[in-house]
Amino acid sequence: MQYGYFDDDHREYVITQPDTPLPWMNYLGTDDYFGMISNTAGGCSFYRDARLRRLTRYRHNGAPLDLGGRYLYLRDELDGDYWSPSWQPTRSPLDAYECRHGLSYTCIVSERAGIRAEILYFVPPGETLEVWRLRVRNDRGTRADLSVFSLVEFCLWDALDDATNFQRNFSVGEVEVVDGVIYHKSEYRERRNHFAYFACSEPIAGFDTQRDVFLGPNRGWDSPLAVERGRCSDSIAHGWAPIGSHHIRLSLAPSEGRDVVFILGYSENPAEAKFDPPGTQTINKARVRPVIDRWLATDEVEGALRSLRDSWDELLSVLEVDTPDPDTNRMVNIWNPYQCMATFNLSRSISFYESGIGRGMGFRDSSQDILGFVGMVPARARQRLLDLAATELPSGGAYHQYQPLTKRGNDAIGSGFNDDPLWLVLAVSAYIKESGDAGVLDELVPYDNAPGSETPLSEHLHRCIRYTLDRLGPHGLPLIGRADWNDCLNLNCFSESSGESFQTTENREGGVAESLFIAGQFVLASKELAGVVRLRGDDEQAASLEAAAQRMIATVEDHGWDGEWFLRAYDSLGGVVGSHTNEEGQIFAEPQGMCVMAGIGLSDGTAAAALASVRDRLASEHGIMLVHPPFTRYHLELGEITSYPPGYKENGGVFCHANPWIMIAETILGDGEAAFDYYKRTNPSARAPISEVHRCEPYVYAQMIAGRDAASFGEAKNSWLTGSASWHFTAISQWILGVRPELDGLRIDPALPSAWPGFTASRRWRGATYEITVHQEPGVKGRVRRLLVDGESIEGNLVRPALVGSTVKVEASVESDLPLR
Ligand code: BGC
Ligand code: NOJ
Repeated sequence: MQYGYFDDDHREYVITQPDTPLPWMNYLGTDDYFGMISNTAGGCSFYRDARLRRLTRYRHNGAPLDLGGRYLYLRDELDGDYWSPSWQPTRSPLDAYECRHGLSYTCIVSERAGIRAEILYFVPPGETLEVWRLRVRNDRGTRADLSVFSLVEFCLWDALDDATNFQRNFSVGEVEVVDGVIYHKSEYRERRNHFAYFACSEPIAGFDTQRDVFLGPNRGWDSPLAVERGRCSDSIAHGWAPIGSHHIRLSLAPSEGRDVVFILGYSENPAEAKFDPPGTQTINKARVRPVIDRWLATDEVEGALRSLRDSWDELLSVLEVDTPDPDTNRMVNIWNPYQCMATFNLSRSISFYESGIGRGMGFRDSSQDILGFVGMVPARARQRLLDLAATELPSGGAYHQYQPLTKRGNDAIGSGFNDDPLWLVLAVSAYIKESGDAGVLDELVPYDNAPGSETPLSEHLHRCIRYTLDRLGPHGLPLIGRADWNDCLNLNCFSESSGESFQTTENREGGVAESLFIAGQFVLASKELAGVVRLRGDDEQAASLEAAAQRMIATVEDHGWDGEWFLRAYDSLGGVVGSHTNEEGQIFAEPQGMCVMAGIGLSDGTAAAALASVRDRLASEHGIMLVHPPFTRYHLELGEITSYPPGYKENGGVFCHANPWIMIAETILGDGEAAFDYYKRTNPSARAPISEVHRCEPYVYAQMIAGRDAASFGEAKNSWLTGSASWHFTAISQWILGVRPELDGLRIDPALPSAWPGFTASRRWRGATYEITVHQEPGVKGRVRRLLVDGESIEGNLVRPALVGSTVKVEASVESDLPLR
């Protein structure tokens, strides 16, 4: 069952009924001001940091209600009938409803009783405000006298305090209302220099800023007293809960339409110019007033929307593909890169499943996200890399998280996730492959942000590698520390007390648990760094990195092979994890993917055997489960993974993030059929027809789909902010379609399903455009055997970087089954 459809021409997903199984979200904002918005206008906004600068409230865990948002109420003055044109919060029946989630904008259109309302929400590029443009039209044969009420509920800035410290919160709220503009200025009198404003382009008939007055006793957002009786009370909030509501009266002749613009924004004043007149407690509005005036002019909206669209055109034109599969096309051309940019902007901070107060930016998460957006915003990726590297510790370890506002490592979580540093190596190498900018390695970057500690970035990367080598366990495999990529494999935790954090508690200090995943990741990272170092002429360093990789491969061969697949780990007691000898948790997906991606077992058949085991034991119709059989009871020595009921999350869920590793591994072994088959299983667009099962948005990846052992097999959770975005993008674009930036050229190395006759792609890379056509003889399983570059046949399948500004025609033929290299 579907709740809408893709409008690919407009790059929108159109939701045709408001009661989707879960709120289906979109994000607004591309620079500093962001919001999330559901298909019924739920959500909230913030400036830069979802915890510390939250503008409006959202009640996470209000599900299924989706409460708190950018609400409007329409009221018919004739009979007092009122409704929400976005359906929420009144949920009054609508004669028509449509929500178009587009690229950084959302437009909700509805009709009731002959009144058509279209509300467009977006953040103009470069601004710290959001626009809501209400376009209302009277489709009745008679004049319509309407009231419009707007509504936001302000958050008292720090979202954690806001949700917890009520003894204080209920007494700090303050607003000003001047010339129809509602200013939210809680805590402005003391240490905050920022305030929010909510304004409207029409003259107002009234306003409210005190929540209880607007709502009336015992009422919720679905039936505010002010709306019911058709007038506000001009209340000025003092403490309790400040809100912003404007009341506007519109009288529309038959067929008459009107645009009303609301803006909600964030503004800061210099500390010395906070008040006007000086010495008072009144906000100085000299800076903000021109901004408000500009954006209330309804004709600014179209131009800003156009420039937003232009900026997306530019970003998405980096890679455009035309394949025989529509689900692939729309994910690669539109939604997957769009989601990658969301992870760039928001990391894991705020979504329907992330509160915006829990986590800073993850070191490993943000490093991996780079793979997804580096092609679109290489300069910003570069800065992100340098920010990440500056939180590396002198030991080569890394803070697990850092705070976006300060860019400092997060002491509360600390370090000790032993996979973390290696992701930085992989991210830097991806950046250099994309940009050709090996000079980034010479950038001086501090450790732990300490001035005076700077070394070139290249030294940071070597320390990342050494960090693993300095921490090898009894089998010579990397020690896992608190956890590796699988945050829930807490092999040194041994937690028996419920208040303890699985992530940060180490009750077995000096634990000897070892990770096969990190072993594979180490091999991959060492090889990548060797390539980068060799590019710079340091053959000796490169050889030593390759030798370290070879030693690790030998160790994996000796101690990491279970007979039909790669082991997962050795626990702190020396027991094997992820082995056929275990009763539960016999095989894990992630070491199979990572070891094969690292090139382990390609020549001795173990890689192929590992992938066959994945297919036999982990593949389900909804994707590849992370582990099987899942754990049915809590294991002290394994940690959080065994805290989840079987089939959920890391305990046997289809952890989407790890699926592309298997896809990539399949392409490395030359099985494009298998890779693409897996790709389709998790592709959100391909899953749209089973939305009643999948339940999350059909246009973005979710972190997890419940596994076979769960009660809700096939149900997705934790959509939007997940490493699934960047890895799926990498798998499909670079490995299945095979258009892959390398250090010295663009590799054209597709591994396609055999029924495809080929595909075309346009790829912008290092300033030139590559127009690529791949032909495949139908039914052939093979690799590129012939390559024409601007009509000239070349050896191999690597296209050398072309002149900036040039367009290069590349024609590739997939012809035989022989391995190319
Ligand atoms: C989740 C993991 C996540 C970790 C982050 C755990 O509860 O299961 O997926 O990586 O929290 O802290
Ligand atoms: C989600 C976390 O954000 C990520 O860092 C981790 O690798 C995966 N869960 C797997 O546990």
